[in-house]
Amino acid sequence: VDTPPVFDDSSPALCHYIHAVSGRARACTIHLKPHKGQTTRPVPTPIFMPVGTKGCLKGLSMHELTTDPALSCPIILANTYHMALQPGTELLDEFGGLHCFMGNNINNETSKEYNFNLLTDSGGFQMVSLAKLSQVTEEGVTFENPFLHPQKGDHGKRYYGKKNSTTTTIQDEAPTDDTNVSEEDNNNKDKRMMLLKPEDSIRYQNEIGANIIMALDDVVSSVEVDADRFEMATYRTLRWYDRCLQAHQKSHCQNLFPIVQGGLDTSPGGLRERCLAGFRRRELDGIANAPGYAIGGLAGGESKDDFWRVVDQCCKALPDNKPRYLMGVGYPLDLVVCSALGVDMYDCVYPTRTARFGVALVPGPTPGTLRLKSHDCATDHNVLQEGCPCQACAGVHKVSRARLHRLLKTEHPLAIQLLTQHNIAYMMSLVRQMRQAILQDKFDAFARDFVHDQFRGGA
Ligand code: GUN
Ligand code: ZN
Repeated sequence: VDTPPVFDDSSPALCHYIHAVSGRARACTIHLKPHKGQTTRPVPTPIFMPVGTKGCLKGLSMHELTTDPALSCPIILANTYHMALQPGTELLDEFGGLHCFMGNNINNETSKEYNFNLLTDSGGFQMVSLAKLSQVTEEGVTFENPFLHPQKGDHGKRYYGKKNSTTTTIQDEAPTDDTNVSEEDNNNKDKRMMLLKPEDSIRYQNEIGANIIMALDDVVSSVEVDADRFEMATYRTLRWYDRCLQAHQKSHCQNLFPIVQGGLDTSPGGLRERCLAGFRRRELDGIANAPGYAIGGLAGGESKDDFWRVVDQCCKALPDNKPRYLMGVGYPLDLVVCSALGVDMYDCVYPTRTARFGVALVPGPTPGTLRLKSHDCATDHNVLQEGCPCQACAGVHKVSRARLHRLLKTEHPLAIQLLTQHNIAYMMSLVRQMRQAILQDKFDAFARDFVHDQFRGGA
């Protein structure tokens, strides 16, 4: 079980070993077929995947993120739509995929000193959450190109669609100039609408070349009230999965995960059950052989009770011998609870985003966060977290909370960089502790202590 598989052209692109189970929590290793020119990097689970929106995390090099012992991230999430728009998937393909583009590939010499795995989300979810206007039809997701709305940090870069069509797919986009949106653009609103079909999403993801790619799903906000909309989205997600399977050109090296939708309806014969049954049917009929499954449509403002009920139901219904990935979830407490229910993989912008707001993740007994901008920190001599091996707490930078407070007040980029490193180190340490507890069959006690600490002294 501990020896990594030998990958060749005919072997599956993912191997999943379960080492131990504690209650329903699992300690596994996921072996992903290495990208060409690279060696394998096993993924121990439970795992948290940091999100590098544009193929990198702000203020952190891939080298640091993947090799610094305090971080040591074996897998990173990148967003398909950002990559497709800038720099464009064709350029990435030219570089031999995103792995090479991100990993010191200079003149076709990929650095051998470090390696990592990548997962890309299908794009639709981000489109809908980012775009001002979006609409889902059977064909795909239509959305207003977010790059045509100049936002802080966009540097006025704009992309145009095919001149004589009302909708366009992303690959037709080409950078033109650096001016601001003119009145003429506002009169050409229809030209700014773009369509992302399941086939497009898979083509982009094939070009980007991540180890795990996601099916395009029809995501409805979990607090949406229209029951018919949920039913439509559930069945459409199944139909789109069939189209994704058909379009997938690289199943020998890229793992396509379907996403379970179905809102918050966990009732017998309800939408979650029907979605799960739809995927099971495809496996039984030999149409699909998913290397892993994702649970989607959560972390959108629903109650914790509803959230846990859905995760519980999905984990019970999904096959034991495949990884389970809970999308968009990244609060430390949620990781502990959902791992107890049987989830293996997580991703979320929370640890990096909250770092940019000057918030550090710390263990209890506190509310689990530390607001460095608050006046209390102005004269605090302590490091963020005693014993943390990150650059901010122990590395060459080793800073007090007071210094971080000051750096934040003066908007010094080092503050965000150090807080980002600390927060990722915190998440990676949490998943390692969870894994240890599972291997020792003490996960129940670990989870109980964790929950107790997070609430003691907190709200
Ligand atoms: N990220 C967070 N939730 C979701 C989801 O339901 N679907 C997709 N594709 N991405 C997500
Ligand atoms: Zn730290």
